Amino acid sequence: MTTRTQWNNLSKEEIMHLLSATGEEEKQLFGRSAEIKLRQVGNKVYLRGLIELSNICGKDCYYCGIRCSNRKANRYILTHDEVMQAVQSAYRQGFGSVAIQSGEVSSTTFVAYVDTIVRDIKKMTNGEAGITLSCGEQTEETYRRWFESGAERYLLRIETSSGKLYRKLHPDDERHSYTKRRNALDALRKTGYQTGTGVMIGLPFQTVEDLADDLLFMQQFDIDMCGMGPYIEHAHTPLFAYHDQLLPLTERLRLALRMISLLRILMPDINIAATTALQAISQDGREQAITVGANVLMPNITPEKYRKDYFLYENKPLSARSDEEELHYLGQRLKAIGHEIGYFLRGNSLHYRSTAKTL
Ligand code: 5AD
Repeated sequence: MTTRTQWNNLSKEEIMHLLSATGEEEKQLFGRSAEIKLRQVGNKVYLRGLIELSNICGKDCYYCGIRCSNRKANRYILTHDEVMQAVQSAYRQGFGSVAIQSGEVSSTTFVAYVDTIVRDIKKMTNGEAGITLSCGEQTEETYRRWFESGAERYLLRIETSSGKLYRKLHPDDERHSYTKRRNALDALRKTGYQTGTGVMIGLPFQTVEDLADDLLFMQQFDIDMCGMGPYIEHAHTPLFAYHDQLLPLTERLRLALRMISLLRILMPDINIAATTALQAISQDGREQAITVGANVLMPNITPEKYRKDYFLYENKPLSARSDEEELHYLGQRLKAIGHEIGYFLRGNSLHYRSTAKTL
């Protein structure tokens, strides 16, 4: 297959085949996506300082450690001061963008709180810092409000593009509707955000065909950014019951790398994040992802004492180093693989600019 592969026009069958590639064929796949990445988006890695704003969540997803039914989770929400201090420190260190992530809450208080945070980050950084929000499904009105206040990117993972698998991973009710989630993605795009989505890789019941469909879904939806990573079990969630059916962690990591590699080939100019879940499996998981096609890193800048409570899955990496030291080490490790940190860069998705899907 390798000699005849038409890399710019992969069929679903070819994608499925490559998702299972090993040895020489996998090497060729990774080589191809690495080449495309360097040609299209270069060797700079954009930073998003990740702020885990709150782990209070109204959803009850079967895989997630901060689901509302998990009584063992210690719930928190950062104060305005804590958020601003984290942003200021990151901004001084050269982070061109921040990402605000939280559990899904749509109360008027929460919506207004996020809105204030967005406005104040813009003020504090003279409009310079890029802001990505990742606060789940909200009304179109809320999305517009946050956009108008200055958030320019939004990440909402579809989790899986298969409606059938989605139902197995979520309670069967209105709050967890696949159609609603899809519609939320449409609303984000319509609002004018650089729109990102993503999936979990290596879920119980998930097939290689599902994963190929996920990639084609992202291509058809014409996303600007993607954050995807391996599924990692969490003992206090219902999906843990199936943990003996999962691929071994190292294989889940490789499958995630092949997903990233294929997405880079299918969508050469989008932003792809090397996610924390990759690092939870292997210390250099994110660097491996950068090598095969990712171009965004999201170092955690949440005040330290809260980090253990934003516990989506097991083995969440918690560094003993300070954020400054962590960034320094990251820079060194990236250098070793021929990359460099894009300090003070906003790092917009080139894809968004080229297609100009603005209002
Ligand atoms: N393993 C990996 N990723 C997870 N997420 C939630 N739970 C898990 C898990 N057990 C991801 C989901 C969600 C994001 C915030 O974290 O994709 O959208």
